[in-house]
Amino acid sequence: MQQPIGIGLAGLGNVGAGVYKHLLANRNLLRERLGLDLEVRRIAVRDTARRAAEGFPAEILTPHWRDLVEDPSVQIVVEVMGRKEESLALILESIARKKVVVTANKALLAEHGREIFEAATQYGVPVFYEAAVGGGIPIIKALREALIGNHIVSIHGIINGTSNYILTRMQEAGLGFPEALAEAQSKGYAEPDPSFDVNGWDAAHKAVILASLAYGFWVPTDKIFVEGIEALTSADFRFARQLGYGIKLLGIIKAKSAEFGSEIEVRVHPTLVPEKHVLASVNGVFNAVAVHGNVVGETLFYGRGAGQDPTSSAILCDIAEAAEALVNPRRNLGFMPHGLYGSCKPLDEILCEYYLRLCVQDRPGVIAQIAGILADLHIGISSIFQPESEDEGSTVPLVMMIHTASHAQIGAALERISALDCVRKPTQMIRVEHFS
Ligand code: NDP
Ligand code: HSE
Repeated sequence: MQQPIGIGLAGLGNVGAGVYKHLLANRNLLRERLGLDLEVRRIAVRDTARRAAEGFPAEILTPHWRDLVEDPSVQIVVEVMGRKEESLALILESIARKKVVVTANKALLAEHGREIFEAATQYGVPVFYEAAVGGGIPIIKALREALIGNHIVSIHGIINGTSNYILTRMQEAGLGFPEALAEAQSKGYAEPDPSFDVNGWDAAHKAVILASLAYGFWVPTDKIFVEGIEALTSADFRFARQLGYGIKLLGIIKAKSAEFGSEIEVRVHPTLVPEKHVLASVNGVFNAVAVHGNVVGETLFYGRGAGQDPTSSAILCDIAEAAEALVNPRRNLGFMPHGLYGSCKPLDEILCEYYLRLCVQDRPGVIAQIAGILADLHIGISSIFQPESEDEGSTVPLVMMIHTASHAQIGAALERISALDCVRKPTQMIRVEHFS
């Protein structure tokens, strides 16, 4: 048995405290499975006094993350501070000191993945990030290793636990948005800034990571389409159910073909999912990622997508891999650029089906006016209904399901529709996915 491998833990919040607890509890198990002993040697946290009072060993606590970088007994740095500049500096300085890095920071990877892995390549140091996507689901390892022989045709994922928890509570318990969010926060699911959970950007960061891994280049965040769940109403859940759909915040990644130079599309938005599809039944904090590989076909990965324990489980996996990489250096440093693809479809050209909920005046000719605009723009209507029980005085809702059209087409249609006198409120538009 060699000397223990030293770990520096940067952050002792929701995730960091879980990692510390489970690393101690499972130290013997890990030692037996890995043949390597793991020891936490330094912990960076802003409020050291509070953590010492809570029982964390005062002698290893420091308020300065740079102490981890400079400590020669620390060989693996685990970044769970969730910061921007400081986390990036910690990661880059650790790499430069040849310390293997583990991070759960999806926002940082989505925005600086290229820079981080260029440094990793320069110094020959791996960076692991299993906890960055899907909480406890080993989706990064699956894409990196198990599906290495597949072109990835598509990925559809519920990849934000907080928003899925909120949607589930709104749909099933009739909770209001703020109450559902407060519950998710109290359970430790939400980001330090929860607006990322509800505005779609946490899921978008994860979609960028999955797409980058699948297609071999770091997808720029300004080339993806992102919409959050803030505008969904109970009426949308009700109408969607009547039509045979649930509503989920989905990350959708698709390649046009498995050929060299094929364009990819990456988008995150509320989506009508057919009730019969398995993703419609993924509820609460659970995440699920459906990956379609051109060899394997459809696969599905399911598990808790946020919270202390599932996230800690993913980080323990990374720490174990980091320890092995220290003993047996490896060529794959956590991200292999492979450039088979390399460009994103212009957002206006993305094709979808749509659900529209309009608020219109209750008078003859209204449907004809709206249908006329859609026809002008070569957009087909697949069904239409005006729920009688939903009378709102002089206005009524009008729900339309729209055949496949581009973002540009539907955008132009909505602009003209919203200018009609008979349309009394902004139109709700939700994309529909049939997983064909
Ligand atoms: P928290 O806000 O709960 O914890 C952050 C920790 O980092 C705190 O202990 C804080 O110290 C410490 N910290 C912040 N800045 C500094 C600094 N400059 N120097 C030293 N310590 C610092 O966040 P979470 O644990 O929820 O999330 C951490 C990361 O994990 C984020 O990147 C998040 O996106 C990611 N993640 C979170 C998941 C979850 O379910 N919560 C799931 C998957 C990933 P102090 O306590 O003194 O303020
Ligand atoms: N806030 C994130 C979520 C944490 O709710 O999914 C897990 O990445």
